[in-house]
Amino acid sequence: MSKQEVIICRNLEEDLEKAVSQHTHDRLFVLTDEHTARCCLPLVARIPCMKDAVCICIGVGDVHKNLESLAYVWGQLSEKGATRHSLLVNLGGGMVTDLGGFAAATFKRGIAYINVPTTLLSMVDAAVGGKTGINFNDLKNEVGAFAPAGQVLIDCGFLRTLDRENILSGYAEMLKHGLISDTAHWSELLSLDMEHIDYALLQRLVARSVQVKEDVVAQDPFERGIRKALNFGHTVGHAFESFAMKTEHPVLHGYAVAWGMVCELYLSHIQTGFPSDKLHQTVRFIKENYGRIGFTCRDYDTLYELMKHDKKNVAAGVVNFTLLADVGDIRINQTAPQETVYELFDFYSETMG
Ligand code: GLY
Repeated sequence: MSKQEVIICRNLEEDLEKAVSQHTHDRLFVLTDEHTARCCLPLVARIPCMKDAVCICIGVGDVHKNLESLAYVWGQLSEKGATRHSLLVNLGGGMVTDLGGFAAATFKRGIAYINVPTTLLSMVDAAVGGKTGINFNDLKNEVGAFAPAGQVLIDCGFLRTLDRENILSGYAEMLKHGLISDTAHWSELLSLDMEHIDYALLQRLVARSVQVKEDVVAQDPFERGIRKALNFGHTVGHAFESFAMKTEHPVLHGYAVAWGMVCELYLSHIQTGFPSDKLHQTVRFIKENYGRIGFTCRDYDTLYELMKHDKKNVAAGVVNFTLLADVGDIRINQTAPQETVYELFDFYSETMG
C-alpha cells in the first residue's frame, strides 16, 4: 500500500493548495455531509484551488454510511463528468472519509483523493491509515478496501466547532494510542483537563497520536499482525456499541471504546500482567470523563454473543483480543474463555458503577 502524507496544518489554505497541486487532475470534487456542508465547506470553498470544485453532499451520521449513499456519490461523479484523472476531497468526519475513500478507490477503478477530517475521531483514526468502506447488512464496515488518501490534512482549528462529547469520543482513540505506545505520552494524555481544554496542548497531543498510528500502519498496512494493536479496547467496545444501538440508546464510538478499554485493561492485568497502578489511573480518567454504559448481569449473554460475531475473530466463536503487558508492550491474538469475559463485565460494573 502506498504511504499517505499526513500534514498537521499550520495554514489550511496553503496546505490544501499544495496538496491539490500535487495531483494532476481534470475535475475537482468535494464530498461533505449536510453538517460539514454548512459548518466547514464555507472555510474550504473560498480557497482559490477549490473555486471550481463540484460539491457532493450526503446525509449525516453512520446510518448514511451505506450502499445507497455510495451509489449516490458514484452517480454524481459520473453525471458531473468525473474521469479517472479527477480528484476528490473528503471534508468531514469518519463517515465521510470512509465512504468517500471507498467511492474514490472504486470509481473507474480508482481516482486520487485527499482527506480533510473535521472531527477529532477522524483526525486521529478514521482518516489516517487507508481503511475505507461502508456498512452493509447491518454490519459495520463490512465492505471496503485498503486505499490510502494521497494526503490527510489535519487542521485542529475544526476542533473548536466540536462539542465536548465529540472531543471525548476522539480522545478515547488517542488514549488507546497512548496505551499502545509509551508511558510519557499516556501520562500526558491523562493530564489533559477535559473540562477546560487547552487547544494548543490538544494539537500537540493530536500530532503525537497520529504519529503513533502512522508508525503502526507503516509496519503492517493490511492488518496481518501488529496493526491489530489498534484494535485494543475494540473487542468489548464494539459489543458495547452494538448493545447500545440494539437497546436504542446509541453511544458515540469513542465512548464505547473507552468502556471497552476498561474491560480489556483488566483482562490485560489478569492475563498478561498489565500493572495495577496504570490500570486504575486509566480507569479513573475514563470513569470521570465518560460515565458508564448501563447493563446488568442479565445482559452478559447478549454482550458475549456480540463479541463472538466480531469480524476481528480468527476462528468462529473464539473471541480475539489485543492485550498489553504494560504501556507500549503489545500482545496480539490473545483469547479468553467465556467465564473470564464475564469476569471483565463484573469488574466493569464494580469499578464504574
Ligand atoms: N481503526 C483501526 C485501524 O485503522 O486499523
